[in-house]
Amino acid sequence: MNDIARIMRKAYEKHIIIPAFNVPHLPMMEPVVLALRETRSFGLIAVARLEWMKFAAQSVAAVAAEYERVGDASVTRLHLDHVPVIDEDHLLVDYMYDIKTAIKVGYQSVMIDGSRLDLQKNMAAVSEVVRYAHAKGVPVEAELGAVLGHEDGPMPSYEELFATGKGFTDVQEAKEFVKRTGVDWLSVAVGSVHGAISPSARDKRKVTARVHIGRLTELDEALGVPLVLHGGSGIALSYLHESFRHGIAKLNIGTDIRQVYEANLSESVEHAQEAVRKRVVEIVDELRIADSATNLLG
Ligand code: 13P
Repeated sequence: MNDIARIMRKAYEKHIIIPAFNVPHLPMMEPVVLALRETRSFGLIAVARLEWMKFAAQSVAAVAAEYERVGDASVTRLHLDHVPVIDEDHLLVDYMYDIKTAIKVGYQSVMIDGSRLDLQKNMAAVSEVVRYAHAKGVPVEAELGAVLGHEDGPMPSYEELFATGKGFTDVQEAKEFVKRTGVDWLSVAVGSVHGAISPSARDKRKVTARVHIGRLTELDEALGVPLVLHGGSGIALSYLHESFRHGIAKLNIGTDIRQVYEANLSESVEHAQEAVRKRVVEIVDELRIADSATNLLG
């Protein structure tokens, strides 16, 4: 297995969070890397399928080429985020094509998202990806439970979602899922939501989400693998820090830095890039991971 599997394991064991920064616009990548280098903190550069389909990341290959240009192995690795089996518009995706392309062009970890499928079908898709990726030394992330927010149309109110635990990852199902698929990292639904992506809602401020620490603790004790928290923008910091003590080793952050970039674009790309760099430095401070690269890679 390549070294990101080991780095993630170390983060999980030492309760150090690895942020994964999504880059829906290619020029966002350079300032993220600059901020990580400047603070000596370790983070992933990530792109999800919807970011080349609906934003300006262009393609799997374009992101890899930009990473080749600005990436820095002393503070980052390149991760393929959400490749859904069924996308947010309910269309079937040729997920193996995207996964194979990404691995071929050098992505060091991949995510297959079968969370819109039933348990058996989700496990079948994840097992297929795990077989392929592990043969190439690449670790795999999957998702069980529903981290809502990408879908168009009305969402239940956040308070209702959190109070009912609707879509939260089930502990017994997760145990079976991890054992049967051999997946390396699991994205769990424990109260976070994704920032909206529809053109009418993508600029809106996200709800301040919380994490159900009780369910997360049960999942962590049952699974023993690094867990991933999606929808990382706008989660109350006290909950975030508590979640890092209970199995969350990777935090996906998209909307926060995308909105910073887009809000500053009218002035110039350079101005927007500088705003992203500053915001990532702040996030590093909020997550308390300055110098984590020394700890995780050393
Ligand atoms: P946010 O856009 O809500 O930060 O979520 C990012 C994410 O989870 C990408 O996978």
